[in-house]
Amino acid sequence: MYTEEKKQKNYGSIFIYCFFCFVLVVEVARFAKPYYNDIQNLMETEAEAVVEEGLFDVELSGARPCEFSNSRSAQNHQKLSIPIRQEIRARPPTTYCVKFQSFATMSNLVKSNGNMYESRPFSAGGYNWTLLIYPNVNTPVGSGGYVSLYVKLDNSTFIDNPGGEVYAEITFLTYKSTIDKYHILKETDAQRFHLFKQQFGQLNFLEIAYYQNAAHGFIFDGGQSVFGVDILVTPPFKQWEVASYEKNIQDPVYTWKLTKFSIRNLDSYTSDTFSSGGRNWKLKVYPNGTSSAAGNSLSLYLVSASGEKGYVQAKLRVIGTTKVEKQVEGYPDAKENGWGLEKYMPLADLKDTSRGFLAGDALKVEVEILSFSKTDSFTK
Ligand SMILES: *[C@@H]1O[C@H](CO)[C@@H](O)[C@H](O)[C@H]1NC(C)=O
Ligand SMILES: *[C@@H]1O[C@H](CO)[C@@H](O)[C@H](O)[C@H]1NC(C)=O
Ligand SMILES: *[C@@H]1O[C@H](CO)[C@@H](O)[C@H](O)[C@H]1NC(C)=O
Repeated sequence: MYTEEKKQKNYGSIFIYCFFCFVLVVEVARFAKPYYNDIQNLMETEAEAVVEEGLFDVELSGARPCEFSNSRSAQNHQKLSIPIRQEIRARPPTTYCVKFQSFATMSNLVKSNGNMYESRPFSAGGYNWTLLIYPNVNTPVGSGGYVSLYVKLDNSTFIDNPGGEVYAEITFLTYKSTIDKYHILKETDAQRFHLFKQQFGQLNFLEIAYYQNAAHGFIFDGGQSVFGVDILVTPPFKQWEVASYEKNIQDPVYTWKLTKFSIRNLDSYTSDTFSSGGRNWKLKVYPNGTSSAAGNSLSLYLVSASGEKGYVQAKLRVIGTTKVEKQVEGYPDAKENGWGLEKYMPLADLKDTSRGFLAGDALKVEVEILSFSKTDSFTK
């Protein structure tokens, strides 16, 4: 008895469960229907928009109310050609230009040439190139309903130098008569060409339909069309520098004796050039001080004989029976004076005979170069 009852209850709950499932499915379908219709509509308008409206009109008609279908088609196109920039410009192609008296006739004739028109060779950046135009549907494979444009680098360039590479920024153009400007699709990066990659192009340059109806402007004066290319070969750098920091200085110490100090009456005196750490230097002293130190302090500097302007760390010394030592470090603060101190030491101290700085009427100055930054320049 007990089990019978239980079974009956189970049938009941299974029925209720199924009923709810059914209701759920019906509701979901009802809810989703409008979206499904939207998606269908959207796909239709996109397909139309690509052919009829044209993204160039969109770009040019910023003032026109921005139709939904137009912006969709522009997005759609962009998605196909990332990372490419679309622009319009008045300046003609800088490297080469091909004009067809009749786009339609050319499209027909090239059918016997793999649906490809190849321009005559032209030169850019010291290399030979050709421009390839594919005017027909699905050539190259995958191009669908688009005109495809390619450039091809003449591989004889690589015969002598099989490992060679050529980098070039490529921009494809086509003339739009209705606005008297060029429509361009520009690669944002330079393209790399080498022995095994001689071609580069845009499979989806522009829908063929644009060249079938003169209203779009790409076909003009009875069927003419114009294509062009900018090729900017970007050779690798030929000059460079290496910045380093020298710490183990060879011959770091130089001592300079300025004799007959008492009869020196010039503003400043400069030592002979000496070499330290592979670089040429001089010491410079202002016996009576310079600028703020004039008349009260000795000014003392280390100067680069080769005009270096980098970081230097050095100890300057004035030597008597004792010595006065001061460290300088950093970049030169005064152009002509290098690294040093305006107020190196008071003239009173210098002249204090008990300290012996001017013994024998000579000033003894020393430098110890501890480190400096270095920039080596190279040219290929
Ligand atoms: C470019 O083509 C010309 C004519 O065919 C040829 O003389 C020249 O050597 C070529 N230059 C290069 C870099 O291949
Ligand atoms: C050079 O290019 C021509 C034509 O594009 C091709 O037939 C030839 O095989 C290429 N040579 C090499 C070494 O890649
Ligand atoms: C040094 O400065 C003092 C004070 O300004 C001045 O009297 C003296 O003539 C100066 N000596 C020289 C050699 O310039």
